[in-house]
Amino acid sequence: MTDRLEGREKVTGTARYAFEYPVRDAAYAAAVQASVGKGRVASVGAEAALRLPGVLAVLSCENPPELSDTSDGELALFQSRTVSYRGQFVAAVVAETLETAREAARLLRVEYAEEEAPDVGLRADHPGLYKPDKVNPVFPADTEQGEPEEAFAGSDVRVDAVYTTPAEHNNPMEPHATIARWNDDGSLTLYDSNQGASTVQSTIAKIFGLERGRVHVVSPHVGGGFGSKGTPRPNVVLAAMAARAAGRPVKFAVPRQQMFATTGYRTPTVQRVRLGAGGDGRLNAILHEVAEQTSTVKEFAEQTATPTRTLYRAPHRLTSHRVVPLDVPTPSWMRAPGETPGMFALETAMDELAVATGIDPVELRVRNDTDRDPESGLPFSSRNLVACLREGAERFGWAGRDPRPGARQEGRKLVGMGVASSTYPAYQSPNQATARAEPDGTFTVRIAAADIGTGARTALALIAAETLKEDLADIRMEIGDSSFPRASVAGGSGGTAGWGTAVVRACEALRGKLNGAVPPEGVEASADTGDELKARAAYARHAFGAQFAEVEVDADTGEVRVRRMLGVFAAGRIINPTTARSQFIGGMTMGVGMALMEQSVMDREFGDYLTRDLAQYHVPACADIRDVDAAWVEESDPHLNPMGAKGIGEIGIVGAAAAVGNAVHHATGIRVRDLPITPARLL
Ligand code: MOS
Repeated sequence: MTDRLEGREKVTGTARYAFEYPVRDAAYAAAVQASVGKGRVASVGAEAALRLPGVLAVLSCENPPELSDTSDGELALFQSRTVSYRGQFVAAVVAETLETAREAARLLRVEYAEEEAPDVGLRADHPGLYKPDKVNPVFPADTEQGEPEEAFAGSDVRVDAVYTTPAEHNNPMEPHATIARWNDDGSLTLYDSNQGASTVQSTIAKIFGLERGRVHVVSPHVGGGFGSKGTPRPNVVLAAMAARAAGRPVKFAVPRQQMFATTGYRTPTVQRVRLGAGGDGRLNAILHEVAEQTSTVKEFAEQTATPTRTLYRAPHRLTSHRVVPLDVPTPSWMRAPGETPGMFALETAMDELAVATGIDPVELRVRNDTDRDPESGLPFSSRNLVACLREGAERFGWAGRDPRPGARQEGRKLVGMGVASSTYPAYQSPNQATARAEPDGTFTVRIAAADIGTGARTALALIAAETLKEDLADIRMEIGDSSFPRASVAGGSGGTAGWGTAVVRACEALRGKLNGAVPPEGVEASADTGDELKARAAYARHAFGAQFAEVEVDADTGEVRVRRMLGVFAAGRIINPTTARSQFIGGMTMGVGMALMEQSVMDREFGDYLTRDLAQYHVPACADIRDVDAAWVEESDPHLNPMGAKGIGEIGIVGAAAAVGNAVHHATGIRVRDLPITPARLL
């Protein structure tokens, strides 16, 4: 139970975030967004802007800054006149002050030509839908086993329903921000808010034609990301371009209003789920077909139906993904991309099957558990879904639940309880780390890992202390800097597993080197886990969980309040209960937002999302989260990594929205298949 090491710095405001670095002589950038949904930039009138005192430079397709690599269309700023979506960055201004930059940006006259009505509507019958080569990161778009159509048609009990989830936007507290400085030797320093300094380093080096080591990314503290900072966004490129054009360091923070078009979001989905079962609830056929969107700039094909390949046993199965390139920003990662919308659909369908068969929803899931990964046939490294369901049911007081919908009424409030399963893969990437014994008896451990608010720094320090058999107080854990050994991103819930393995190996190597007094220059050891990962045996590695929710629905207004929520997870060994609990609860809270509030509303006529700040895009506030608790079952898994840890960053959100929705159905008898469950959908 260790508080986060940088907690005091964070709450006292001394922890420094990207935009706050006191860089000498810094200028400021402001960006201009396309005001048409599809077309070309005809001209950029900069006269008025350039006349404003303090304006240093204007960047646009009229004077495209040279880039060495333009393969990522979202990062190839100002290289083309094509407007691919409304809100795309089409120009930028650099000025002495932020206020001047913003005013000058307002004065730029961008004229458009060849304007066309943008196609921004995702539909399951969109003629542009196609089958991608793979879905993220490496999965087949489609899978099929047995005779799914026939088996479904011949099943005694059938559920066949379409579920939709809206676009949702990552809204970290700290918007994307970068300070770029070109140094006298031609190298580039970036103070940047990101989920992985090594990834920013290599991506930006390629774009600007630099050796990787010539880019230095500094990001010790990051105010959230939820996937949106997993890869560099246009802000990094823009800051570096602007700094080059102005001949000075440049600060650029994406205003929250601009984030909605430029820093990624969760694709909306239309999902058809068919479940065929016997009267005993045992699944005979599972079919899960997904339509989702990408942009015309690049393909992003989310892995929405992949959890359905893993969760339940059934001899006949089918999953498919189709994407359509629309005139929209490119979707990207948002906490448990794929699993989150996919499991809303599957786990709501399972609830519908429970109702159709009259089998308790917990029991139904237990009955369809499997000891082998159903599609790959691989054994699970460990799988404790049933333990989570049983323990959660026990703790939540599930046994007394009257299964009839609408049976429990307290005054004006209809009260119901719902459950859903949760799963997320236990990913792990190769990493490097160094561990150093200092002559004063302390230790310095370095890795370019990212702590985006998760507690990763603290978890890694605990891992180092345990491996070195030293006091935590004697460990200096240094992360968030691309000059440290290369690390994978804080993504895919693979951070602590991947980084932690490198830390363990470096610390073990250091212990092997230490004998007697440490010399004045210290003793250092390093590790690279690439070969270790290649040598791992084939197992299906996933975390599991069970989500329970109790809601009250106002019979007159349709307002839904989540009274209680409990998640029980099986995620391997929990390294630090304090920060792990916070991760789980944070994920569940985001799941409540998904269930009841979050939706990015597309302007069907002009393009771009209309919800552009936290007044319009609603996320849960403290008053919405009354009693949310997380617990975990002991899980010992020797097939993961030296810590025995699975990831915990994302599984908390998976299934949470379905649990809330299933509770709403239990309370009211109304099945809402389209998120979010707003009052209008209940009245
Ligand atoms: Mo997470 S959406 O994999 O950064």
